Amino acid sequence: MKFNRRTHTCGELREKNIGQSVVLNGWVAIRRDLGGVIFIEMRDRFGITQIVFEPNYNADSHELGKKLRSEFVISIEGKVRKRPEGTENVSLPTGQIDVMVDKLIILNHAETPPFPIEDSIDVHEDLRLKYRYLDLRRNEMQKNLLLRHRMSQITRKYFDSNGFVEVETPVLMKSTPEGARDFLVPSRMHKGKFYALPQSPQTYKQLLMVAGLDRYFQIVKCFRDEDLRADRQYEFTQIDVEMSFVDVEDIFEIVEGLMKDFFHEVLNCNINSPIPRISFDDAMEKYGSDKPDLRFDLEMVTLNNVFSNSEFRVFKDSVASDGIVTGLLAKGCGDYTRNQLDVITDFVKKLGAGGLIWMRVKENDLDAPIAKFLTSEEKSNLIKEMNAKPGDLLFILTGKRLKTLSVMGSLRLEMAKRMNLIKPDAEPSLLWVTDFPLFEWDEDSKRLYAMHHPFTSPRIEDILLMDSDPSKVKARAYDLVMNGNEIAGGSIRIHDSELQSKMFKTLGIGDEEAEEKFGFLMGAFKYGAPPHGGIAFGFDRLAMLFAGKNSIRDVIAFPKTSSGMSLMDEAPSRVDDAQLTELHIKVK
Ligand code: AMO
Repeated sequence: MKFNRRTHTCGELREKNIGQSVVLNGWVAIRRDLGGVIFIEMRDRFGITQIVFEPNYNADSHELGKKLRSEFVISIEGKVRKRPEGTENVSLPTGQIDVMVDKLIILNHAETPPFPIEDSIDVHEDLRLKYRYLDLRRNEMQKNLLLRHRMSQITRKYFDSNGFVEVETPVLMKSTPEGARDFLVPSRMHKGKFYALPQSPQTYKQLLMVAGLDRYFQIVKCFRDEDLRADRQYEFTQIDVEMSFVDVEDIFEIVEGLMKDFFHEVLNCNINSPIPRISFDDAMEKYGSDKPDLRFDLEMVTLNNVFSNSEFRVFKDSVASDGIVTGLLAKGCGDYTRNQLDVITDFVKKLGAGGLIWMRVKENDLDAPIAKFLTSEEKSNLIKEMNAKPGDLLFILTGKRLKTLSVMGSLRLEMAKRMNLIKPDAEPSLLWVTDFPLFEWDEDSKRLYAMHHPFTSPRIEDILLMDSDPSKVKARAYDLVMNGNEIAGGSIRIHDSELQSKMFKTLGIGDEEAEEKFGFLMGAFKYGAPPHGGIAFGFDRLAMLFAGKNSIRDVIAFPKTSSGMSLMDEAPSRVDDAQLTELHIKVK
């Protein structure tokens, strides 16, 4: 079908265009047929323009205009006029004008869409995902994709101007453990062998440092077969960064520069610099999380000192066995009912706590089921330590250190919600979390795992502890946290093959297994590896936060559902037997 090239987009015409003949191409967004006159709001990515079909102005096009329905694709030629007085639309940038149609070409018909193509629709997300191409036609989704595009451009410009080289790394690689489950790709040529999709380009970027690239970045897809959540997808995008001859401070400087650009160019505001830092240990003790949300201050307090000589069994056992007693003060919540307290108790029990101790703070006393087990000195010290006032509510949890702190951290977030502490206009909170433990103990498999990944360097002063007390070794690792979300994580790496072997040994990976899995990396370290370190941002999470959304699915064009399905093209799907045979695979 022949149609003229557009002279303007649907978001472009203003009063200065009045009198001009124009061509517009786009979709029918809204149609109002007032008997004599038809008004159409015509839409494209750039905006909306009202076009008018009037029988007295042009009878033919008015006749054809009657056929238009929602989402028809059209091309029109017409004249821009000032809208008649009183009919201007101040909420539209083009709202001072409309276009009188001389000629209409219907480029395509459309079935009635399964949901309206407009903002704030109340539709199940599954339906939006099935018809994602229609969902993405909506203004709010287009805004998200455009914002993400802006952020990629800012990233590329920033790293380029700071001397970084963008290098693409393979998507078919050797399976290397990074903590999650791999997606595997069977090899046709090599029977019984598999490629893995990269959980991240970690080993490649380190090899690029050995290769002398010095400063690398990449906006790259990563793949992890783990349970999906609002902030997790199987395939997600990282802004991946690695630098040679650097220490932690250099990485922080580069990252803070990028964050400044994002805030400045996307949100038109500045961030406090340097970004505050907190150690993992402090973050756990004060906020019960390694990604604390500091948009509100509600701090947990360690109470081991208060109860160091307690006769109350629960506290006594905990303090004696190196556990923790941690408290949280809910200001002004002393009037919570028994029922409300039961609900909150259930909340922590579901997270694995044995129970929840609560106390209502009264004038010089505590009203609580356990109050009778405490001495008056303990009670007054507790009130003092928690800075509690009459009318407040106190929660205490006790047990194994990290587990208990983390449950209290969840209760902290829950109480912040109940007490309405997170204001919608709160300043964004950015925070570095540093000094992570190098290892974490897994109770199920009874072995140590690398908390970040096995290429992370221990603090130099802790290397000797790797043999004697690995749980005490701190890593040169850091995370960047925004509003309680982990948006980036990285570390200074081991660049010495001996230390790398020691690391594998401590992790229970024998020489043979290390050679088989990581021989290529350790081999490379023997040929002059520079000291290096880096970081990777979760780009989807960043875009989500800057777009003010709660799910990364809103900033990904074609995401999977929480059960890992693509509802639009129905992946994953069965494949032909012939394909399987070729890949030497039999499905049981
Ligand atoms: P890490 O595993 O911490 O580090 O990942 C970096 C960042 O990626 C984001 N992220 C995810 N986003 C969406 N869906 C997922 N499934 C997902 N998993 C992680 C997080 C996280 O902070 N190679 C190292 C980086 C390094 O050491 O330089 C790495 O991948 O925002």
